[in-house]
Amino acid sequence: MQEFFEYSLGARVLYKAGLSRELGQVFAGLGARAFVITDKGVGAAGLLDPILAGLGSVELAGVYDDVPANSSVRVVMEAAAAAREVGADILVAVGGGSPIDTAKGARIVLTNGGDLLDYQGYNVVEAPLAPMVAIPTTAGTGSEVTPFAVVRDEEQDLKLSFVSRFLVPDLAVLDPELTSTLPPRLTAATGMDALSHAVETFVSTENNPFSDSMAMYAIDMIATHLRDAVHNGADMDARGQMLLASTMAGIACANSYFGVIHALSHAVGGKYAVHHGTLNAIFMPHGMRFNSAVVPERYVRIARAMGVNAGGRSDREVIDDGINAVSTLAADCGLPAALSEVGVPEEGLEELAAIALVDGAIFNNPRIASEEELLELLRAAY
Ligand SMILES: [Fe+2]
Repeated sequence: MQEFFEYSLGARVLYKAGLSRELGQVFAGLGARAFVITDKGVGAAGLLDPILAGLGSVELAGVYDDVPANSSVRVVMEAAAAAREVGADILVAVGGGSPIDTAKGARIVLTNGGDLLDYQGYNVVEAPLAPMVAIPTTAGTGSEVTPFAVVRDEEQDLKLSFVSRFLVPDLAVLDPELTSTLPPRLTAATGMDALSHAVETFVSTENNPFSDSMAMYAIDMIATHLRDAVHNGADMDARGQMLLASTMAGIACANSYFGVIHALSHAVGGKYAVHHGTLNAIFMPHGMRFNSAVVPERYVRIARAMGVNAGGRSDREVIDDGINAVSTLAADCGLPAALSEVGVPEEGLEELAAIALVDGAIFNNPRIASEEELLELLRAAY
């Protein structure tokens, strides 16, 4: 634990099945002209119309639904321009991490003007932004409560990070009904993203007891409920538990950050079109093994939260069982275990190691990783 730490409570969080159909009531005081940022999949799944129908006295200023799976600087600039044109005073993101991060980027540009690239990095945004509501339709990113936005720069094939407490949405609306139509593969990948947030933040150099409590409980909830959410999407208890776990892991990460798993995942995801959560699932066992050499006691606790019985066995055995429990969970949920299965060319690994070495997520990893060690992790995951 750090001698000094800061823990910010951030967004107001509301949870209720069906809440997204009654938004007019919860928007009160935040804004009068809402601009919705979403993707085509949300509309195709029939999730958008009930949300728009429930806006009540809040006026719908417009909808931008062209957000792709990995959003980009161009998309953020387009969405911000569209919101400005219609005089929107509140941004409403509906979707997974990509629409939510797009809206975070758009609120920077909408409020401050200029180019999104001017605000890249840590605490460059120093003042409050246009109000924002985040309505996740996946249980994984946690972006509805975090001060981070990750946006792809298509000019450089890089994932850029934007970090500022002013990026935390004002309101997170957690409605598990919105996640009930998410297909098994995406449920699995986003659920493993949430697990990676909890695991990485629990061992991060910035861990603290507040984040620990959120991360530990999230790991337990995901280990218990992800299989049911994947294999029986209509199981609303599992869906609700996963949505809460992903937000809790997000709150933990918002305060205690990430590590080598996300650094590798960002590097690969910037270069190749592979789902962020799938990449985290692939890298998680390798990152855990690498880090467990320096903070074994933390990995014993992770193993216990994953359901491993620690009684009478060595720490190493318990840790290995914990790592295996993560791999087994990913496999049970139908996710690939290797980079070679998701279309990443082997000759690209050296470049990816160099990119991961300077990714912002790596700076809070408990074990310093050299470029050679990152390459070894990439090869092990191949
Ligand atoms: Fe993530």
